Amino acid sequence: MAPGAKQHPPVHIDFGDIQGDILRAYGNTYDCTSYAFVHIDCAPEQARAWFSGVVDHVTTANPWPRGEKPLTTLNVALTAPGLRALGVSDDKVGSFSREFREGMSDAARAVLLGDVGPSAPSQWERGLGTGETHVLLTINAQQPVDHKRALGKMKAAMKAAGGVRVIYQEDTEMLPGAREHFGYADGFAQPAVEGATERKVRGGGIPLQDGGWRAFAPGEFILGYPDEDTRVDPQRRLPNMPADPLGRSGTYMVWRKLYQDVALWRRTMRAAAKLYTAGDEDLLSAKVVGRWANGTPLVTHPDAPDDEFHPSSSQANDFRYDDDLDGMRCPLGSHIRRSNPRDALGWGGSLSFRHRMIRRGMPYGAVLPEGVMEDDGVDRGLVFVSFQASISRQFEGVQVQWLNAGNIFGLGNDKDYLLGDPFGKGKMTIQGKPPFLLSPQETFVTTRGGEYLFVPGMTALAALADGTTG
Ligand code: HEM
Repeated sequence: MAPGAKQHPPVHIDFGDIQGDILRAYGNTYDCTSYAFVHIDCAPEQARAWFSGVVDHVTTANPWPRGEKPLTTLNVALTAPGLRALGVSDDKVGSFSREFREGMSDAARAVLLGDVGPSAPSQWERGLGTGETHVLLTINAQQPVDHKRALGKMKAAMKAAGGVRVIYQEDTEMLPGAREHFGYADGFAQPAVEGATERKVRGGGIPLQDGGWRAFAPGEFILGYPDEDTRVDPQRRLPNMPADPLGRSGTYMVWRKLYQDVALWRRTMRAAAKLYTAGDEDLLSAKVVGRWANGTPLVTHPDAPDDEFHPSSSQANDFRYDDDLDGMRCPLGSHIRRSNPRDALGWGGSLSFRHRMIRRGMPYGAVLPEGVMEDDGVDRGLVFVSFQASISRQFEGVQVQWLNAGNIFGLGNDKDYLLGDPFGKGKMTIQGKPPFLLSPQETFVTTRGGEYLFVPGMTALAALADGTTG
């Protein structure tokens, strides 16, 4: 049965019980974001006294009164060791998904994720992936001055409580035009969720065979709600989630610090473009990404970007691959086509729609000035953040099966070219007449650390703070 043919009752979302910036983005007015990883070094009771003070200030997904955005926001996530440090029983922690409990840096998992060579967990920055991070506090601010104040307050509360300290902090800032460091508009292709973001359904939803689109069931991204599997269950069963009161309104979070070698990217693109039949560097780079630098999709504009294109317009993602199945316009191995193949795999899009995630990443580090081709030694890149109901089905499915392997696209061993190859080997085939083999695939992106986390709902946060989770 086509996905669109399913019938289901409407869903009501309890936004007040869900943390903010998941189903609906806070938006680009929040220029500064800090991620502070906290280590708990005291008894659970003492840690909970500090934690309850944090919980009082958490920003929910409730709409803001009169649409006025607060100057700063605060959100909280925990690792599996973090749940234990707050006194959650082993039994309850055992009800969380296996990948969350094992963590991103688990040896076998790291190989699958491509975290090998310079990206291996043994090379990660101190504190990340070692089991020492317990709580992640994410602070967003509209202005640097508010940002500084919020960070100061957070640290003062920790000092007063004792036994808790920040062991790793990443401060990020929006780049001009909401671009990432390679120069591309980023972060605007997001899933459209029923009851939350239906207005983005064209391109954000599930492509239907009749040409229409359908919004995602909220349970794909928030636990305690029907997902694409259970939405038509006659017995109204819900997808698996952590035991009560922890699971409902929560979601899993992936956090990765991805260093980008911008000078190497620029040099590689410039050298390769000299050999490319079209000879055009902008076109060659766009073929790697699947979009022009301003975000215009290649599949709809294969020859030149649309200067009027705006990433926030409701049509920004309104495209499919059904009339470009051979990849002549948007290569089969381009980053956006691999990470969300839409209808490109056939079967009416049913092979790809269970692997979507909500991305809320932020670039970190200063921009490498335009035209500079040598590395200046500055640490810069992307803090990749995704929210999903299942890390294994959604984030890992995309990273492992689609970005790190080419089989499903008929691309053999080719990896996503944009993410690079940890050993500087590999290539990308750019379909054309004749096809162009883009090589070498350098180490453009290196993982510098990461964690799998859980973002509890507000009821769960209160129970964690009170020590009543069991
Ligand atoms: C430094 C690393 C990365 C860079 C520079 C990067 C850059 C981009 C850019 C420029 C876009 C197009 C804008 C947009 O659609 O929002 C994009 C889209 C996307 N990326 Fe990445 N990305 C990176 C890593 C990743 C990783 C690790 C994943 C997943 C495991 C991922 C998944 C996606 C997805 C799902 C989309 C949306 C595709 C669509 O819906 O059409 N990206 N990325």
